[in-house]
Amino acid sequence: MARPESTNLIIGASSTIAKALIAKIGREYPDEQIIAISRSAASEHAESERERIEWLISDYSEQSMSSLSKEIQKRDVSLNRIFICNGILHDEEFFPEKRLKDISLEVLHKRFAVNAFQPVLWLKHLIKSLPRDQECVVTVFSARVGSIDDNNHGGWYSYRASKAALNMLIKTAAIECRRFAKNIKFLAFHPGTTDTPLSAPFQKDVPAGKLFSADFVADQLLKLVHDLPAEPYLNFLDWKGDPVAW
Ligand SMILES: NC(=O)c1ccc[n+]([C@@H]2O[C@H](COP(=O)([O-])OP(=O)(O)OC[C@H]3O[C@@H](n4cnc5c(N)ncnc54)[C@H](OP(=O)(O)O)[C@@H]3O)[C@@H](O)[C@H]2O)c1
Repeated sequence: MARPESTNLIIGASSTIAKALIAKIGREYPDEQIIAISRSAASEHAESERERIEWLISDYSEQSMSSLSKEIQKRDVSLNRIFICNGILHDEEFFPEKRLKDISLEVLHKRFAVNAFQPVLWLKHLIKSLPRDQECVVTVFSARVGSIDDNNHGGWYSYRASKAALNMLIKTAAIECRRFAKNIKFLAFHPGTTDTPLSAPFQKDVPAGKLFSADFVADQLLKLVHDLPAEPYLNFLDWKGDPVAW
């Protein structure tokens, strides 16, 4: 029987880092498939990378997550890498909170929805598609500011708290998955400050040499995922591969 094709699933595929990741996977693993999911259509850049990218649109409603996950499950593919890249720090209306007086329920809801709730809901719907025998690495894009131990500066209440919640949700999912599949590894990834729209308003304070390109981060991440040992099956690592305190 033919082996199912190794497939990379990239959710939040229009993120600057995700696009670099897609390009890199296309070059380094030309025999593997890529399924990309985003709110918006593929950019020309991503589309031109290779023919083997399948680009799916989602509004990230649970209905859409459920139907796309079922669609993926029906195919004869083996998901070997899953990257959930979505994350939001600011938008046209709201900047990260500096003080308690800046906090609003609306912003808390919005940040938690994208940074914590959507990733775990994707896992809920994808769980049946996770391979039971072949290796698979599930990466969620976390952030060092989501570390409770490492919070020495305060501020950014909703972003910090939603990434901390993401870390707890991923840890809990990893423990559950371990009960039925020993081959699935989980990575909460901190990319470092990367030159993307998300960090754009805050880049002026970044020390020289500490603002990374998306290409560099994608390179680091793919190496990390490739070299992840079997144990521990759950890690919170930065772009260097150094552990971040939970
Ligand atoms: N850049 C940094 O310095 C930095 C540092 C630490 C952590 N991170 C994390 O790295 C990840 C990638 O971010 P990036 O820097 O590449 O930023 P980016 O280019 O601004 O990408 C934003 C990402 O968030 C998703 N997104 C934005 N608004 C959304 C909404 N309303 N609903 C659902 N999804 C939404 C986008 O998904 P679509 O594809 O659907 O548009 C896309 O995946 C994020 O999780 C971020 O928190 C970044």
